[in-house]
Amino acid sequence: MQQTLILLKPDAVQRRLVGTILQRFEQKGLRIAALKIVNASRELAEQHYAVHKGKPFYESLISFLTSGATVALVLEGREAVAVCRNLMGTTDGAKAPPGTIRGDFALSVQNNLIHGSDSPENAALEIALWFKPNELVSFAPVDANWIG
Ligand code: RTP
Ligand code: MG
Repeated sequence: MQQTLILLKPDAVQRRLVGTILQRFEQKGLRIAALKIVNASRELAEQHYAVHKGKPFYESLISFLTSGATVALVLEGREAVAVCRNLMGTTDGAKAPPGTIRGDFALSVQNNLIHGSDSPENAALEIALWFKPNELVSFAPVDANWIG
């Protein structure tokens, strides 16, 4: 069963959209394997977005991610990485299709509410960055035969 790291960035927390966004993932059939609210340190934000170091938006992005509380979670389920990326919509909120989280709730490129891992390999790295192993909880879903 695949896992992915999701961040509800400080704009999602400030705008009180945490419950609304979590509901979309739960309704899809994904399960919460870990969940916490944190004030990301600069070191953590830099590690998380290391791939973007040097890009014009990098400093602003790090300031944004460290500007307030972030809700971090691990979701699991069939094809969780791709399913979450599709539910999120494309990066720019203005261009993200209606029906997606960014398409419905974001207008900005930077303040686009949510992060989702873009590959199973990066998911494993990002989960290890944000969570200790004992913060993940596995349970047998009683409705697995229905959800898939
Ligand atoms: P994420 O990593 O957060 O899931 O977002 P993503 O894959 O859709 O987009 P990515 O290219 O990885 O960019 C990471 C985050 O940087 C901010 N960004 N700002 N001003 C800009 O041109 C710009 N481009 C990207 C966004 O917050 C984006 O989610
Ligand atoms: Mg990305």
